Amino acid sequence: MFKTRFTKLVGIQWPIIQAPMIGGYSSPEMVSIVSNLGGLGTLALGNLTPEQIIQQCNQTLSLTDKPFAVNLFVSQKRTIPELNKYSQEVKALIPYYQQLDIDESVLFDQKTTNLPDLNSQIDAILSTNITIVTFTFGIPSPEIVKKLKQNSIIVIMTATNAEEAALAQKSGSDAVILQGINAGGHRASFLTDGNGGPKADLLLKQASQAVSIPTISTGGIMNGEQIALHIKNGADACQLGTAYLFTDEAKVESYYLEALLEHEADTCLSNSFTGKYARVLSNQFSKEMKPYRAAPFPYQGQLTSHIRSKATEKKLYEYLPFWAGASYSLGRRQTAESLTKTLIDELTSSMIS
Ligand SMILES: Cc1cc2nc3c(=O)[nH]c(=O)nc-3n(C[C@H](O)[C@H](O)[C@H](O)COP(=O)(O)O)c2cc1C
Repeated sequence: MFKTRFTKLVGIQWPIIQAPMIGGYSSPEMVSIVSNLGGLGTLALGNLTPEQIIQQCNQTLSLTDKPFAVNLFVSQKRTIPELNKYSQEVKALIPYYQQLDIDESVLFDQKTTNLPDLNSQIDAILSTNITIVTFTFGIPSPEIVKKLKQNSIIVIMTATNAEEAALAQKSGSDAVILQGINAGGHRASFLTDGNGGPKADLLLKQASQAVSIPTISTGGIMNGEQIALHIKNGADACQLGTAYLFTDEAKVESYYLEALLEHEADTCLSNSFTGKYARVLSNQFSKEMKPYRAAPFPYQGQLTSHIRSKATEKKLYEYLPFWAGASYSLGRRQTAESLTKTLIDELTSSMIS
């Protein structure tokens, strides 16, 4: 047991949060293992329909009676961009379509629209017994915050700089996740495009002066010593994504896991896969696409989705996004149980020494 303002707020034993990881990686099994050990698991529900949300929440509730969180995206509604074959966003992708034998006409087939509606996702969550909701990519509307709080749900927003953290606090966030630029996956940024910003340790220092709510450090944290350091520097908890990506329960695709275990590539921020900056293993696609403008999130993701499916089929893995934090080379294959227990042991001994 290690008490901080955050552990008291959410009723957990250890200031350790398993990050939400879209793509099915933070499964109900993983979330319940972490929560049952006294940490806080988080389900990634950002791109799921209300029906899928209810299923995931109920499955997790059947595996643990301890607190766990669920995560949603606050994505601004955008109009579908008008693209034609002369648009830079399209022209940059045509060589990949040609190389992979994909019919280019699908590039203009903009049938898909925005992500699932946040209000209906919230209603789905309210129909279950969820008690903690975390948000990324923006600040939820005052109506949503009010509705959640009226239902005694703890609301936690994500920030990538001190200004975003202050806005989260002002908007009613009960604690704030501080995502450093070293974090794996998408940047949570909403006041900037996210292609820059402080690392997790500096962000903690800067944001601690801007907010009084409990703070959660995330980005590049892979072991208990690092968690202890963040706690000593004022964090109330730490959130780990990439470390959990290596666990058996993440069921990462074999080619993705192989790339992670090779430790060969550097990581970089790229917006070429989805339209939003995200930290990935640097590869041919991220490098070649760097000079080109990307369509806004999530449309770039739709434009590139055919490339990803065909490249997977043809085993051309240099065209796929392998999300990873900057410290991914410290990742170890193990179970979520063994990782969580190790983090607890390391945190405990580092706090004593
Ligand atoms: C594969 C992957 C998927 C992610 N999906 C989400 C998500 O759905 N929602 C979210 O708030 N953060 C997401 N993140 C970011 C994490 O919440 C967290 O900020 C990040 O993993 C911390 O950095 P680390 O990976 O170095 O631990 C994702 C990260 C990874 C690696």
